[in-house]
Amino acid sequence: MNDDTKPIRVLGISGSLRKASYNTMLLRNAMEMLPPGMSVEIFDLAPIPLYNEDVREKGFPAPVQQLRDKIAQCDALLIATPEYNYSIPGVLKNAIDWASRPPDQPFSGKPVAIMGATPSTGRTIRSQLHLRQCFVFLNMHPVNKPEVLISDAARIFDEQGRLTDDTTRGFVKDLVAALAVWTRTVRGG
Ligand code: FNR
Repeated sequence: MNDDTKPIRVLGISGSLRKASYNTMLLRNAMEMLPPGMSVEIFDLAPIPLYNEDVREKGFPAPVQQLRDKIAQCDALLIATPEYNYSIPGVLKNAIDWASRPPDQPFSGKPVAIMGATPSTGRTIRSQLHLRQCFVFLNMHPVNKPEVLISDAARIFDEQGRLTDDTTRGFVKDLVAALAVWTRTVRGG
């Protein structure tokens, strides 16, 4: 039986490092629409170095260890990602690659939801599908619906980074609500 009062701690990750990132804005907007009991902490990927197996053999660099610890400690992940060249941005893939290395692969068994925004027309569909493919290998449990696939991002965020389109806000709200339900289902309460 699900315990609706048990807190859900979510680790939020943006696949873009730029200050005015639509995807980071999306994550911040989602944080204002959370169902009761859910909280989101954003992890900044900027300090994560480029993956190097020689370095890993000597031990995880501190920012990678922090990311691995945060993933291990969270109940679920919420990723907002752009699409780069029809795929996952290198910054995000690189962080996933680092964090996924043994021992104790921290993504395994974690519920995850994804959303994405582009100022263009492609709605980040391909990057989100590629990310879902990674989730299979990582043994994660993705929320399937709703899909939050945002195009024309420059039009629907205002100067302060607020998502102004009510339909899109509804999708984001439904996604975080679905993540809460799914997390309780996966962990059995
Ligand atoms: C892009 N962009 C892009 N957009 C898209 O819809 N499909 C794509 O395949 C690509 N490819 C791509 C490659 C590279 C290297 C860059 C830098 C950009 C445009 C991209 O959607 C745009 O820069 C977004 O604003 C990036 O997201 P943030 O930074 O606003 O979150």
